[in-house]
Amino acid sequence: MTITNETTSNGMAALAFDDATGVATITLKMEGRANKINDDFGATMQGAWAWAKARPNLRGVILASGHKDFCVGADIDRLYRERDAATMMARLRELNGLFRAIETGGVPVVAALTGSALGGGYELALACHRRIALDEARVQVGLPEVSLGVMPGAGGTQRLPRMVGIQTALEHIAQGLMVRAPKAVKNGMVDELAATPEELHAKAVAWIHANKGAKQPWDRNAPIPGPQPGSAEARQIIMAACAMLRKKTSGVFPGPELAISSVQEGLTLQFDRALEVESRYFTRLATSDQAKDMIRTLWYHRTSAEKHEGLPKIEDPRIAKVGILGAGMMGAGLAFVSAQAGYQVVLKDVKDEQLAKARAHCEEQAKAAKHLGADGQKQILDRIRYTIAIDDLDGCDLIIEAVYENLELKHMVTKEAEPKLAKGGVWASNTSAIPIGDLATVSLAAQNFIGLHFFSPVEKMQLVEVITTAQTSDETLARALAYTRAIKKLPIVVGDGYGFYTTRVFSAYILEGAQLVAEGHDPVVIEWAAKKFGMVVPPLQVFDEVTLTLGVKGFKQGRHYGKSLDLPGVALVETMVEAHGRAGKAAGKGFYEYGAEGRTLWPGLAALTTGKPEHTGVEVIGRRLLTLQALEAARCVAEGIVKTPRDAEVGAIFGVGFAPNTGGPLSYIDRRGLVAFVAECDSFAKTCGARYAPPQLLRDMAAQGKTFFEKV
Ligand code: NAI
Repeated sequence: MTITNETTSNGMAALAFDDATGVATITLKMEGRANKINDDFGATMQGAWAWAKARPNLRGVILASGHKDFCVGADIDRLYRERDAATMMARLRELNGLFRAIETGGVPVVAALTGSALGGGYELALACHRRIALDEARVQVGLPEVSLGVMPGAGGTQRLPRMVGIQTALEHIAQGLMVRAPKAVKNGMVDELAATPEELHAKAVAWIHANKGAKQPWDRNAPIPGPQPGSAEARQIIMAACAMLRKKTSGVFPGPELAISSVQEGLTLQFDRALEVESRYFTRLATSDQAKDMIRTLWYHRTSAEKHEGLPKIEDPRIAKVGILGAGMMGAGLAFVSAQAGYQVVLKDVKDEQLAKARAHCEEQAKAAKHLGADGQKQILDRIRYTIAIDDLDGCDLIIEAVYENLELKHMVTKEAEPKLAKGGVWASNTSAIPIGDLATVSLAAQNFIGLHFFSPVEKMQLVEVITTAQTSDETLARALAYTRAIKKLPIVVGDGYGFYTTRVFSAYILEGAQLVAEGHDPVVIEWAAKKFGMVVPPLQVFDEVTLTLGVKGFKQGRHYGKSLDLPGVALVETMVEAHGRAGKAAGKGFYEYGAEGRTLWPGLAALTTGKPEHTGVEVIGRRLLTLQALEAARCVAEGIVKTPRDAEVGAIFGVGFAPNTGGPLSYIDRRGLVAFVAECDSFAKTCGARYAPPQLLRDMAAQGKTFFEKV
């Protein structure tokens, strides 16, 4: 047996040929930490492919990776910067040509998935005749492009449905799902599993030997699995997919919509024409403002926040024992996620029944984590101690206070429990609005005092808003951040002030919902307008979920902190709670009535309005709802509460459910144009009230032609 070893001229793929088996192995190892479809990819693959084809007695090719992942897909930097449709189309044609050459080359090609194949990386694997994956939890495949405002563009919308059928393909493409290898074998996205890389290689060689002259199903006119294109059944599947998408996204995201169109149209065409259709749709999306805004926030800003870029770091955060005060909704969740991350947890309350409820909650959470097995679940639960004894907090390295939202109570528990901290331990409050500086007035060590504002439900919501005061030390911040990383949260770091950042934006949103009702706008249109503009949950629905009673408490607190709340919308919510007992969803009545058949808007709302509005409709309502939140975000920037525009975007999207299609509130202002946005605010301020008055920062930016983010 002779093995020839070479590399491509640019050194980005190792080339090996085994005389004994006749199998060439191309091992991609591109510069950087992962294989990406970038400028080097085409040259590397073309060189490697030509080399393989030139081997005498070639029987087949294995495409492998020298990095941890097989291939992570498109080079996002390049995708983000490209605005020119002709250039993008030309690049897609080149890539499709390369993939076609691989699959029509007359020799079997196997993708050896020793790591994840995502987006363009999975499309490359789809252009091979067989996909064999390592049976490891980290190995995933899928086409997640829609989550960044685009869609698969290298054949994914054409090969996948032809390989696994329309239904499975649409489910995965339109939702951007990524699946682990064993599941992918079940639904046909991967053909086979292997326990080790050696077994994978042996299986690939065996398959090559058994499948001389392999051809893709679409190149031998094989019927696709399941309903055939054009059949009544296929039409039904596509219609159902469109309807589900519409219900979920209200037509705000063209990415998945065009991906479905591409599948539907492409399946009726000859394969190369179908690829052309996909390329056109992809190009339309990828060169759009929406894709740029989504990529900037959901890729760049999110990754940067995840990596804690620009924030203090610490090698040894010295946190082993975590105390949680208050075993309510937030405390129970915090106890579970902390124990899951490996911390010893003491959950303290003053009521046994609250502790019992929290214990039941944690047990339920553990049970749901099936992949951990009974032992793993038990280990987590064993780390939590439920107690009413204050001394159990002795030696905690971090205490997170999550008792009722009340300054005096929070002061009291701080005085009582802070001395229990280990020397130099960190004290954090989960308050949703009270300034951390006001809580820290009773602290023995204000430099160790910080805000960690989590979101409900704690297990699901990724965001945590970290609040520092002028006294909080960098070390405290670094230690707190290390804790948020251990529990897998996405942090933004903001300055101190009533409502910090996210609560201000969220309050502006739900309050304007109530205000619009009070002004006499149709509540159905209000809810629809919010969705139509991309808000994840409409304002009246979400107001009901957080409860109107909490709103009323918030108004009191807000007035105490000098907020001007002299608005018909505020009066409306107060009347609903105080005169009509409509406390929200949990009470079964709020803006909505909750019955066995779901929710319907409360007809009594009409009687609480102040008149009929002059300007109404989806457009004006949607704009008002977004504008007011964007203004609040801009004010937070102007006041120094928000320290980087990155955090404004990440916080609003992941904490408030701000329209992801816009890229965030500041991106929304940029896209509207500073001059136009300021003019619109001035006009709203005249007709709807002073809360629309733009801060000087925006006027200055408009005058100087500035934007929050660099234009691409
Ligand atoms: P909750 O009402 O569910 O629970 C509060 C718990 O504190 C109760 O179990 C109560 O018995 C306990 N408690 C009262 N006095 C205590 C004391 N002296 N020592 C120990 N425990 C005591 O409240 P929830 O919703 O969990 O909120 C807690 C904090 O988190 C509040 O400051 C709230 O503003 C904040 N928050 C709440 C969010 C939510 O969605 N519920 C979201 C983000 C923050």
